[in-house]
Amino acid sequence: MQQTAIITDPRPATSMHLAGRNALVTGAASGIGQATAQALARAGAHVMLADVDDERGEVAAHRIRDVGGVAHFMHVDVADDADVRHLVRTMVRELGSIDLAFNNAGIEGTAAPTAECSMANWNRTIATDLTSVFICMRHQLVEMQRHGSGVIVNNASIAGRVGYAGMPAYAASKHGIVGLTRTAALEYAQSGIRINAVCPGVIDTPMVARFTHHDQQRMDELRSIEPMGRIGRPEEVAALVMWLCSDEASFVTGEAIAVDGGYLAR
Ligand code: NAI
Repeated sequence: MQQTAIITDPRPATSMHLAGRNALVTGAASGIGQATAQALARAGAHVMLADVDDERGEVAAHRIRDVGGVAHFMHVDVADDADVRHLVRTMVRELGSIDLAFNNAGIEGTAAPTAECSMANWNRTIATDLTSVFICMRHQLVEMQRHGSGVIVNNASIAGRVGYAGMPAYAASKHGIVGLTRTAALEYAQSGIRINAVCPGVIDTPMVARFTHHDQQRMDELRSIEPMGRIGRPEEVAALVMWLCSDEASFVTGEAIAVDGGYLAR
């Protein structure tokens, strides 16, 4: 009897197959960025952590190296075009390529309704949360095009999909990220580059602690509007980013996917 050939996939079933890929994570010193940098390194990627917070950024990179991962830290202000150009060029020079990018750095800005949102708050939030993603993508795309492939994931928010009373600049930035993501996805769909956004709900990070002023009652209010009755963990956002970065998502581009415990399903 003829033996049927069994075609086995040599890759481990649990791996996200990112071994040896060069990944950039902005805002990697804290919260969602730090958790994603750790997850990427665990999957075998070589990770460049970028942040304005040098102390915590270096610690985050050390933690990855301590458990056998490959990680570097660079000081970068993502709202500064020259800084980001230098970061991307350095990464390509030192590591050879930029295969994956998680454009995650951001700030919450100051809470105030639209008529009371100061120009300073508007300008700072738009620069840090929206213009930064444009700046990062324009430099990343040049290198990815040169290389013929790449994956970009931008961190938007549920505030990029629905209005967010009291946070006009933040919501405008996050809606803008979704628009930029979809536009660039169309532009580079035939260049081997996939571009998606993630839209987290409320996630337990220092940003939320600042936003609630570390007040337990305000945290409970946030929990109560979540269908699951809890807020998310940074690792739960990282898991979605990892999937989008992996070849498992090879036909996914131009999406803005929620990871929000059902918040947007209302
Ligand atoms: P976080 O405050 O813990 O971390 C943000 C990191 O970005 C910090 O390390 C900070 O130093 C860095 N950063 C800020 N401005 C920067 C700049 N100009 N250049 C370089 N790095 C800069 O906050 P979290 O929660 O981890 O937020 C990460 C991203 O996730 C942000 O874009 C945020 O808007 C988004 N997000 C967060 C949600 C949450 O509930 N925590 C929900 C939805 C989206």
